[in-house]
Amino acid sequence: GAPVTVNVDKIEPGQQITVEWRGKPVWIIRRTDAMLENIEKLNSRVKDPESEEASQQPAYIAETGHQRSLKPEFIVLVGICTHLGCVPTYRPEVAPADLGDEWLGGLFCPCHGSKFDLSGRVFTGQPAPLNLEVPPYRFDDDATITIG
Ligand code: FES
Repeated sequence: GAPVTVNVDKIEPGQQITVEWRGKPVWIIRRTDAMLENIEKLNSRVKDPESEEASQQPAYIAETGHQRSLKPEFIVLVGICTHLGCVPTYRPEVAPADLGDEWLGGLFCPCHGSKFDLSGRVFTGQPAPLNLEVPPYRFDDDATITIG
């Protein structure tokens, strides 16, 4: 599949967009400062906080640790659950009661209830075994991302 170039300038803070790459949904989320603070708070609640599982991102993303991104403001994720392949939903709002007290907003898979944070890291005790995949990408300039 060909690389996909996306202008990210118009994505509002807290907003998620979906683009298609190699037939898969790829999400770009513009994370707010509050979202980034929540990610830090969840380091002890997720299975693989520094995303050391090499299959789930390129090495240059793994180096960024819990941020899992070249620029903290933008996270790029393949929108496919690592359990059985459903498409999770974007749930940025904080702490809906039905999802449990620990939920600080993120990504929720409706098929079997796996919860991920806004770095795509899976919470402990969920059916999904691995963090969501970060695809290969680069910034061409401050406002432009090329995936692939
Ligand atoms: Fe997502 Fe099972 S496919 S939790």
